[in-house]
Amino acid sequence: MENKQSHHGFSGKIGYIMAVAGSAVGLGNIWRFPYLAAKYGGGIFLLVYLVLVMTFGYALIVTESAMGRMTGKGPVGAYRSFGKSRWFSLGGWINAIAPMVIVPYYCVIGGWVAKYLYEYMRGNSTALADSNYFGSFIASSGSVELWFVVFALAVFFVITGGVRGGVEKISKIMMPLLVLLAIIVAIYSISRPGAMAGVKYFLVPNFKDFSIMTIVAAMGQMFYSLSLAMGILVTYGSYIQKDVDIEKTTKQIEIFDTGIAILAGLMIIPAVFAFSGGDAAALGAGPSLMFITIPKVFESMGMSNLIGFVFFLMVLFAAITSAVSLMETCVSTVMEQTGWKRSSSSILVLGEMLIIGSAAAFGFGIWSFIAPMGMSILDFLDFISNSVLMPIAALCTCILVVRAITFQRIAKEVKISSSFKQEKLYRFVVKYFAPACIAIILVSSVANAFGIIKM
Ligand code: PHE
Repeated sequence: MENKQSHHGFSGKIGYIMAVAGSAVGLGNIWRFPYLAAKYGGGIFLLVYLVLVMTFGYALIVTESAMGRMTGKGPVGAYRSFGKSRWFSLGGWINAIAPMVIVPYYCVIGGWVAKYLYEYMRGNSTALADSNYFGSFIASSGSVELWFVVFALAVFFVITGGVRGGVEKISKIMMPLLVLLAIIVAIYSISRPGAMAGVKYFLVPNFKDFSIMTIVAAMGQMFYSLSLAMGILVTYGSYIQKDVDIEKTTKQIEIFDTGIAILAGLMIIPAVFAFSGGDAAALGAGPSLMFITIPKVFESMGMSNLIGFVFFLMVLFAAITSAVSLMETCVSTVMEQTGWKRSSSSILVLGEMLIIGSAAAFGFGIWSFIAPMGMSILDFLDFISNSVLMPIAALCTCILVVRAITFQRIAKEVKISSSFKQEKLYRFVVKYFAPACIAIILVSSVANAFGIIKM
């Protein structure tokens, strides 16, 4: 089979793991996971999430990497190489479109992070710790737009400016520092008076907190956090050599990504109990949770400007490496499909990001009257990608494996470099478990759209 000619391969296993980890660890872990866990049931959310990561997530990572390595292509090309039917191209396209929906609003949140970094740099920690600060910031559309454009341009520059290697090198230093600081902040947070209730809420499953949304949100988060169902791992898989043990690297990525998410949860959720009370309103804050809670924690720690600066700097790096991988997949899809050069494809994607991202940026201010399904524009984009597009993309991938690629060929590819110990689990998940989960998420999303249930 044709392979890798048109791609730059990774320098080896480490390069591959670092690249996938750079893509996986980002705002999804630090910003998105804690607010979902706080909102959708705490311990029970965590439990459902872990089960999903170890089953569904595992199967998808293995499938996508194997598909990429077998074909040497990105998602659209890889899907097509297994069959001529239009359905196959459609499946590939759904995978390819998800990142185009995510990257614009991802950059808006990246902009929020950049704004907080800037304010800490100017010594404004006290203002940031005020409960109303974040709300009035996101309502000021001009300012949000400015920071969004700054972040989006930075990502664009990393992709086109040939500084990508440099950014990846820096994030190799930043990532461990982020973990270290997160541990310190988590310990501090946990030891505040009243915080133990939060630790308990986050770690101990309580079945009375369970709802269908627990599953829906956990599954969307699994796709998001592991960068699944959007062709990223197919693309990365196409760069790896046959000696990379797909099963082992999958485990490492899962552990690393989930570990950081749990750490972020321990940093933020106990602090919600200690600083804002653990009532439903505080826990249900949603996307704003990190931006409201974390500054309060820092303010009470002392040296808040320094800590805030370091923290948001590291979050910014994690966000940039993830945003780069998102934009990169969009750019490579455009290149593969149009035959355009890298530079023009990048400009097209940047244009798309700026248009859709601006709508998301304005959605909390001058465009707050636009509320599809009762959500802000940003939440709506997040919902469409994570709860609709990605489940459909994942379903297409499962069907593709069962109908076209066959389990035998996947197993053969995986077994080139690993023993594929969990092959039975893999088959069960792809054939029955994943489709069942996806049916749940899709049915409840549609029911929600028609107002039958409230999510
Ligand atoms: N996984 C990244 C994060 O958690 C986000 C992302 C999603 C990156 C999809 C690439 C693709 O922040």
